[in-house]
Amino acid sequence: MYDVHPLDHYEIHGGRPLRGRVTISGAKNAALPMMAAALLTGRPAELRRVPDIVDVRVMIEILRAVGAMVETDEPGTLRVDARDAQPMAAPAGMVQALRASFLLMGAMLARFGRASCAPPGGDVVGQRPLDVHLHGFAALGAAVEREGDHFIARAPAGLRGARIFLDYPSVLGTENLLIAASLARGTTVLVNAAAEPEVAALAGMLNAMGARIRGAGTHTIEIVGVSELGGVAAEVIADRIEAGTYAIAGVLGGGPITVEGVEPLHMDALLFKLGEAGAHVERGGDWVTVASGERLSAVSVQALPYPGLATDLQAQVAVLLTQAEGVSLVHERVFDNRMLYISELRSLGAEVVSTGSTAIIRGPTHLTGASVRALDLRAGAALILAGLVAQGVTALHDIYHLDRGYERLEQKLQGLGADVRRVRND
Ligand code: EPU
Repeated sequence: MYDVHPLDHYEIHGGRPLRGRVTISGAKNAALPMMAAALLTGRPAELRRVPDIVDVRVMIEILRAVGAMVETDEPGTLRVDARDAQPMAAPAGMVQALRASFLLMGAMLARFGRASCAPPGGDVVGQRPLDVHLHGFAALGAAVEREGDHFIARAPAGLRGARIFLDYPSVLGTENLLIAASLARGTTVLVNAAAEPEVAALAGMLNAMGARIRGAGTHTIEIVGVSELGGVAAEVIADRIEAGTYAIAGVLGGGPITVEGVEPLHMDALLFKLGEAGAHVERGGDWVTVASGERLSAVSVQALPYPGLATDLQAQVAVLLTQAEGVSLVHERVFDNRMLYISELRSLGAEVVSTGSTAIIRGPTHLTGASVRALDLRAGAALILAGLVAQGVTALHDIYHLDRGYERLEQKLQGLGADVRRVRND
């Protein structure tokens, strides 16, 4: 079993130079939807480059709980056989462990004409409504209700294609509708769809199963429904958020750090901003090398839907800007409560204030080790970076958040020269 303990913490001795090469894992936010999509067919689905992280492990248990067989013998490869899957609700405790669990709704509804799911969990980063998902199912002809503590969707005669306008380009909302519409009768057009690379990757897998999807990766996606989907072997794309986190470590720790096995185009927003701030950035076919320049200058950044800077990198960028000269502004435009990490950053000595969705950062500041908490996955990643630059020892608690999404985090950081170790508190 995965070596995780809820009370573990990281002890980080900061101030070490960081350099070297790091191989980036498959993306959490691509692997999870692909796992849900495997439920659309009774034929085998093989997924490669699946990261060994807690969210994936929980998703495996969810698939098993609804009757799918999932083999995990080979590291990085999952074989899902959902021929015996049933349209039942997965245990609420598992569903609440991660937000992507709600993708089972789209898959079950499309394949069986009914689906039921408890409200999903995920990081507390603001309001996370489900209206895009639920309105979309209704537009595809499903009757959607809340019964007790479950959402129920029914379409006994099957789903039918429709033109659907998404009020917000929700990533999981788009993925749920893409999954559902693949098996609907007729054509669906998703207008104002999410354009994230993970959506395009899901569409790539669905098309390899026999779906007819065009336009994924743009804001208008057309899906011509098919009557059934077949087996597939698909590889998960690189985790652009993990890659971005290590690239930022490369600037903070001097570098050069090369992130390998990535799609540099998916990192544009970050790489251009790092260059603007004065870092050295070089890119090749499937790698990016980042190093600190002569001096780092303050910049303004906005977290936006793709291709804007990913909200999942907003906190890590803020840490970088504590080391930049001048006043930087960081605007969070995707979630309404994703700046809670700022109080932790202040405990390390950062000069930063937040107005809720904007952080104003004055730098450069000397950070000093302290005891801080990872409030969510990306806040945790940001605080690791802060600990790596801080003088002295930082104790980062609640690192179970990090285990949800970063594969072999301490080993990869150690490989770059970091002095970080997991401490067991039992
Ligand atoms: N929203 C709506 N209505 C909806 C759904 C969302 O208004 O029905 C709004 C939310 O309130 C929020 C915005 O849309 O303001 C963005 O939410 P979105 O639905 O796009 O996020 P998500 O699909 O729930 C995924 C990732 C997140 C990532 C966001 C944004 C997965 C499993 N999760 O969440 O990843 O932050 O997209 O890019 O793909 C993470 O990995 O740390 C993480 C939180």
